[in-house]
Amino acid sequence: MTKPQKLMSNKALLYHERTKHRFTGYAKGPDTLDWDLQPNPFRSFEGAARVDLALTPEKIVAPPAVEPAAIGALLHLAMGLSAWKQFGPDRWALRCNPSSGNLHPTEAYVLSEGVIGLEDGLYHYLSRDHVLEQRRRDDSGQKSDTPRLWIGLSSIHWREAWKYGERAFRYCQLDLGHALGAFSYAAGVLGWRARLVEHLDSAAIAALLGLDRTEDFGRAEKEDPDALIEILIGPGEAAAPAARCGTWTGVANLLDRHPMYRWPVINEVAEATLLAPLAKDGNGAAAPALPVNGTNIARVADADLILQRRSAQHFDGRHVMARAEFFAILQGLIPSDHAPWTIWDVAPRVHPILFVHRVADLAPGLYALARAPDAVTLLRQSLDADFVWTPVADAPDPLRLFQLKSGDARGAARRLFCNQAIASDSCFGVAMLAEFAGVAGNPWAYRRLHWEAGLIGQALYLEAERVGLRGTGVGCFFDDETHAFLGVKGAELQTIYHFTVGAALADSRIATEPAYPDKQRPEVFPP
Ligand SMILES: Cc1cc2nc3c(=O)[nH]c(=O)nc-3n(C[C@H](O)[C@H](O)[C@H](O)COP(=O)(O)O)c2cc1C
Repeated sequence: MTKPQKLMSNKALLYHERTKHRFTGYAKGPDTLDWDLQPNPFRSFEGAARVDLALTPEKIVAPPAVEPAAIGALLHLAMGLSAWKQFGPDRWALRCNPSSGNLHPTEAYVLSEGVIGLEDGLYHYLSRDHVLEQRRRDDSGQKSDTPRLWIGLSSIHWREAWKYGERAFRYCQLDLGHALGAFSYAAGVLGWRARLVEHLDSAAIAALLGLDRTEDFGRAEKEDPDALIEILIGPGEAAAPAARCGTWTGVANLLDRHPMYRWPVINEVAEATLLAPLAKDGNGAAAPALPVNGTNIARVADADLILQRRSAQHFDGRHVMARAEFFAILQGLIPSDHAPWTIWDVAPRVHPILFVHRVADLAPGLYALARAPDAVTLLRQSLDADFVWTPVADAPDPLRLFQLKSGDARGAARRLFCNQAIASDSCFGVAMLAEFAGVAGNPWAYRRLHWEAGLIGQALYLEAERVGLRGTGVGCFFDDETHAFLGVKGAELQTIYHFTVGAALADSRIATEPAYPDKQRPEVFPP
């Protein structure tokens, strides 16, 4: 096939194009929403035995033994509830991982081998109750001496599609990236390391997680197999668990009794972007290995910081952040041997363009952060020829940070981020430009690029909390209008996720209740 033919028949690229928001109209979505018929935000497996989990201890001496108490802390910090919120008659849960529209399409599974106090097998994590639901009990009779632990991640696309229609597949993939980041940080806090298992195709992930068991899903919404990560206690590469036989229990609950719309293009793009065996780097090229040491010093190694993470709904439009804070946040986005970047060895292919509004001693305007050395040339060739590309003096290593243009970018940011005030009231906004060149030859790269953007988003959230600020992910933006504003030539750079960081204003009308009123955080891990 010639290159143009390949591009025309590539379902990921066609999907991307048709789900762009434009000044002239939004991507196809429902005309009306009945909020009372919102799908159940919690998947559970009826009839499955439950294992009650402990919350994160107040004081963590890392690394703990791989036992249920530590698994409870890992799940709590990654995907557990962080609070219940109430406003008038509405009550909703917030979780440690963010999600577009708070719809939470990502499900987590635990595969355990040789863990003392936990039967070998597969478990589904039910964050509402902070329990494991036993899906498969391994009856091989062999208990291994070395404990091993994997986390499987899947997506229920309908949760997002219910509200966002065709664009929802993108949001599911961004959320998945956030979940990868959440597990990487949570493992880092415990002195462990979360590592993506490579060379495992989607069908194999589905089989390991029981997602292909039609008899257990019936009419319930299907889960799409996304990723498997191993939780490593020391140095080493992640490997997949051996496929084992066992006894399956539990039946998936139906989340939406009356779906009003169908968005077939989501199944089509999901199918077209599944991971085929042996696809490695997202863009089809071998990625340079990053230095990875055995210990995993997380830059954000504070459980309380993770538990307090929230999205800002409004920013103080007068707050000026310090230059050092700005640099510290950006440093957290560069791959290193810190969580969350230890999750994989993939060369960075997503690069933030910064709309700087209020950073002390930094001229307002547009800036570019090249997350890999070779990206500078690509960005320079692809963006507006009038950009000045002046390196920001005293930006600490390894920041390749360039000023592109000075001026007030608040109005442009607000317009391009779907007219959201957070874009102009924040201290800075971000548009993440992804290198799309590899998607034509390897459609799975479309997912992986969104995961990388979600990882950057998770780092932005936690780095912002670390300096006393707050972030908000932005999935709603006008795609090609952003490209036009930045003078992007061709289709090889595409903006796939936006973000805002600033000083949050609290909404005192919304009441906050504890995430798990019946559970107390223990002092320490049990001896
Ligand atoms: C992929 C993604 C896209 C998002 N898009 C928007 C957005 O366009 N506007 C907005 O105000 N918040 C957006 N958010 C923030 C979510 O609404 C927020 O994460 C969710 O309500 C849960 O709240 P929490 O982050 O405080 O836990 C987005 C979050 C994610 C992860």
